[in-house]
Amino acid sequence: MKSKPISTSPASAAASPLPPAKRALTRSGASSRRLQAEAVARELQVQLGERSYPLRIAPGLLGDPANFAGLRGRLLRVVTDQNVAPLYLQKVLKAAGISADDALILAAGESQKSWATLETVIDWLLQTRLPRDGVVLALGGGVVGDLAGFAAAIYQRGVDFVQLPTTLLAQVDSSVGGKTGVNHARGKNLIGAFHQPQLVLADTDALKTLPPRELAAGLAEVIKCGMLGDAALFAKLERQLDYLLTLDAATLAEIIERCCYLKARIVAEDERESGPRALLNLGHTFAHAVETFTGYNSWLHGEAVGLGLCMAADLSAKLGWLPQADADRCTALVARAGLPVRPPAGMQPGDFLRLMAQDKKVAGGRLRLVLLRAIGESLVTADFDPAALDATLEQFCASEAA
Ligand SMILES: NC(=O)c1ccc[n+]([C@@H]2O[C@H](COP(=O)([O-])OP(=O)(O)OC[C@H]3O[C@@H](n4cnc5c(N)ncnc54)[C@H](O)[C@@H]3O)[C@@H](O)[C@H]2O)c1
Ligand SMILES: [Zn+2]
Repeated sequence: MKSKPISTSPASAAASPLPPAKRALTRSGASSRRLQAEAVARELQVQLGERSYPLRIAPGLLGDPANFAGLRGRLLRVVTDQNVAPLYLQKVLKAAGISADDALILAAGESQKSWATLETVIDWLLQTRLPRDGVVLALGGGVVGDLAGFAAAIYQRGVDFVQLPTTLLAQVDSSVGGKTGVNHARGKNLIGAFHQPQLVLADTDALKTLPPRELAAGLAEVIKCGMLGDAALFAKLERQLDYLLTLDAATLAEIIERCCYLKARIVAEDERESGPRALLNLGHTFAHAVETFTGYNSWLHGEAVGLGLCMAADLSAKLGWLPQADADRCTALVARAGLPVRPPAGMQPGDFLRLMAQDKKVAGGRLRLVLLRAIGESLVTADFDPAALDATLEQFCASEAA
């Protein structure tokens, strides 16, 4: 990754000239909160030529009308789910200046990423007559983002959309990069489109209501970013994971920014995944095997990714590419995040091999994996000794099952 196609800057370093204690004394509650939010705010520009867009990360973004000012004068529709709606929908409606009639509340969960729900969304957009220059706002986790983003991609041949991600996974991963879509009975994400959002607002306050298991699942993608391309992020996580888990806004904003920066940089180089974008799949070939084995209903995606990261690091060590001590650091961090580091009960090496062979990363009959040369340096390769993979699978499957 030689080029630097995206820029990063603290959103408004000059906005907080007073130390926090004095600010609290001299400002009303609301404006003091706003100044504190501005002090930790981060902003990136995802550089994709005419499809470039800003990505803002800060506490309180969803309730701040300033963030929606650029959409004034256009008709807006919000798509969200029934867990997120009671928590954040009113805030967004008020800040964006729209009414409850402009919102569609869907059931929650991966099963909603379906043809049937897509049709519901499209029907509703037609019924409520969203014009070609209208905007779809996706308020929720990756499910809502992928579904509403895909609806926006195909409604009247494509309308603008804004990502308002409310899970850690969505804030560091699914809301950036423009992959949208739904699942098919034959597999996940088999139907979709590349459709970049106009704007991403990652409100770190939203993470306060996230169930701990969902937070841990998002952390798997954060750890993945450190392992695949940001050694300093990995080291920061090792130092500050416990503090991060207290949801300190400044720490969260910095970590989310680093992940988005890395993803945006890779996407800017390879928007349609013909090359380096595949690096973002570190741990995912192992993870997809676990998800398929368990039928997509007991392990969260991020939990499977956590295990996959440990397995990819272990294999890299067995190949002699990564010091074993570094592979052990990866496993230790995954475990500290509260993620599983052992395969599901009953899963055998043969199950991994069979299911990994079905993964789309198999090219020309050879399994391609993302592996590590160091923490922070990854490569995609089919050129590895299969005996080392067998040894990793044997070792993990022999360990006590989760
Ligand atoms: N487009 C991409 O590039 C990309 C990348 C990674 C993952 N994904 C997709 O993302 C999806 C997973 O996303 P996810 O993990 O965000 O799952 P999700 O959208 O199902 O959200 C997880 C759960 O948390 C709830 N929730 C969301 N925000 C909340 C909040 N702030 N407080 C309380 N509850 C909240 C949701 O209702 C849901 O029950 C998968 O479908 C996956 O394929 C897409
Ligand atoms: Zn993932």
